[in-house]
Amino acid sequence: MEIISSIKTMQEKASCLRCENKRIGFVPTMGALHQGHLSLIKAAKDENDVVIVSIFVNPIQFLPGEDYGVYPVNMEEDKKLCGQMGVDVIFHPEAAEMYPEELLTTVNVSGITSRLCGSFRPGHFQGVTTVVAKLFNIVKPHAAYFGQKDYQQAIAVKKMVRDLNFDVEIRMLPIVREGWEENMLTGRDACPTGEAGLALSSRNAYLNPDEKAQAGILFQTLQTAKKMLDDGERDGGKLSDWMAKNFQHVPLALVEYAEVCDPETLEPLSQVRMGALLALAVRIGKTRLIDNMVWEAAGIRSNRCAS
Ligand code: PAJ
Repeated sequence: MEIISSIKTMQEKASCLRCENKRIGFVPTMGALHQGHLSLIKAAKDENDVVIVSIFVNPIQFLPGEDYGVYPVNMEEDKKLCGQMGVDVIFHPEAAEMYPEELLTTVNVSGITSRLCGSFRPGHFQGVTTVVAKLFNIVKPHAAYFGQKDYQQAIAVKKMVRDLNFDVEIRMLPIVREGWEENMLTGRDACPTGEAGLALSSRNAYLNPDEKAQAGILFQTLQTAKKMLDDGERDGGKLSDWMAKNFQHVPLALVEYAEVCDPETLEPLSQVRMGALLALAVRIGKTRLIDNMVWEAAGIRSNRCAS
C-alpha cells in the first residue's frame, strides 16, 4: 500500500492508473476509520481495480467553534485497517498542501444545502463540496463512495457532479450501525437484535458511556416513526412533531431538527409518500449526532447490514 501526501504525485499516479485502463474507486474520509468507512472501502474494492482512500481533516468544512482542533486522529490504526482491507493508495495531504494560499474559488450547491444541517452549519457544505471537487481533480476516480449517514452531503455531491459534469459515478451506501455491522475484516455477520443501533461515527468517540446509552434514542425514534408510517400515518407535520417530542424525556438530548422531507429537494413534506427521508440532528451533551432513514416499502434501507 502506497501513502502519498503530495498532490502532484497523486495526480501522476492517478493518470498512470487511468492510462493502464484501471478503474479507480475512491473513498474520501477524514480518518478515525470505523466499520462505516470500511463498508465503503469494501464496495469500492468489489467494483473497481484500484482503491484510493483519502484521509484529510478538511479545515474549511468546520465552522468557528466546532471541533476541527480536536477531531479524532488515528493515523497508525487507519493505515493498518486500510492495509487489511486491501486499499492500494492512501492520499494523506497536509492542510498546507491542500490550501497553500487564500482560496478564492469555492463550489457551492445552493438550495438543498441550506436546509437541515445547512441551516445550523452555514458554510459547512460549501467546504465539503469544495474539498470533494479538489479531491476528484487530484484522485481522478471513476467512482466515489459516500455513506447515507451523511445523506445531505451525498446528494449535494451528486448534484455538484451533475451540474458541473464531473466524470465520476457517485455511490451512496447504507448506514452501518453499532451492533448491526458486518465486520468488514472478518466477514462475520453481526446483526443481533436489541442493540442500540447508534449510527457509527468518528464523533461517537466524544460520548461518555451515559451519553452513549442515551444516543440510542435517535435510531429508536426513526424506527418508531417508520412504524407509524407503515401503520398508515401520512401527516408529515404530525410525524416530525412526534419525533422531536420523543426526545423530551432524554435529559442530555437537545433536538436541532427532526424532519420528514422530500429525498431530492429536502423540503419538508406535509403529505408523506414512499421514499421520504426521516432526518434527525440532536445534541447529546456537547456532541452533535445526525441520523436518518428512508421510508421504503420492503424493510428499511438504513438499518440493514451493509453487504
Ligand atoms: P467522514 O465523516 O470521515 O466520512 C467519510 C464517509 O464515510 C462519508 O461518506 C460518510 O457518510 C461515511 N460514513 C460515516 N459513517 C458511516 C456509517 N455509519 N455508515 C456508512 N457510512 C458512513 O464525510 C466526511 O468524512 C467528509 O465530509 C468528506 C466527504 C471526507 C469531505 O471532507
